[in-house]
Amino acid sequence: MAIFYVDGKFVASDRAVIPVDDLAVLRGIGVCDLMRTFQGKPYFLKEHLERLEQSARAVDIVLKWRLEEIKAIVLETLDRNREMTEANIRIIVTGGSSTDFITPQGNPRLIVLVTRIPPLPPEWYQNGVKVITVNQEREVPEAKSLSYIPAALALKKAKSLQAVEALYVNRDGFVKEGTTSNLFAVLNAHLVTPEDKVLKGITRKVILSLAGKIMTVELRPIPLTELLCAQEVFITGTNKGVVPVVKIDDTTIGDGRIGEKTRQIIRALDEHTLNFQKE
Ligand SMILES: Cc1ncc(COP(=O)(O)O)c(C=O)c1O
Repeated sequence: MAIFYVDGKFVASDRAVIPVDDLAVLRGIGVCDLMRTFQGKPYFLKEHLERLEQSARAVDIVLKWRLEEIKAIVLETLDRNREMTEANIRIIVTGGSSTDFITPQGNPRLIVLVTRIPPLPPEWYQNGVKVITVNQEREVPEAKSLSYIPAALALKKAKSLQAVEALYVNRDGFVKEGTTSNLFAVLNAHLVTPEDKVLKGITRKVILSLAGKIMTVELRPIPLTELLCAQEVFITGTNKGVVPVVKIDDTTIGDGRIGEKTRQIIRALDEHTLNFQKE
């Protein structure tokens, strides 16, 4: 059975509990981060910890731990789950218990979950996927908060329409990101991705650092009308890598097949990951 770290203790997953008066339970207040391992080593641990810190700051939760301490806890949790060759690592910082039952009062709880990585459907990467759009904006876009109700509803809708992800379109008609992904489009031979009011994905960051060798990069807003005319589109995330998008709602992207630039980006990311594993 998996071992989780919960508020100071390592416990079997079926004994992992927090008090019901925690603001995470009462109000959905808290932040989280998801990273994965390659060859048992956490990929971009430092970057994920820094983002956890930024997320906490954005929702006014004070982290009681130094990032080095959280890192040590993450590594020990992984070590206690050695039988999992590759794992997803979820770090959660709750709002904690609070006398007024709504405002964080400096008692956050730290949780680290290590779970198996579910297999990804190979056809996503062989044929590309359909995504849908939803008119929705994330409340605190720079934070990976615990509020994923709109995401869960949008994903349910996506699945009912044979799509794998939903893209958020804001009130001005700009596409921002997916429920758990960032968005990239190849527009007139430039790689474009929105920069403002999106979660700064770690996969996005890696792609941006690699893409410069392949094509010019533009960080700017993307109107939905422009996205639908893109030559290529793909989404990125820790839980999916780079997924080519060949259909958005009822519009086919490009010629409906995975584009050459997307293939080049996927190869560059694969190479980066391989090098990390050899380190
Ligand atoms: C809203 C949102 N955008 C983007 C991402 C992708 O971020 P990352 O590449 O760090 O997984 C996520 C990840 O869960 C997310 O929830």
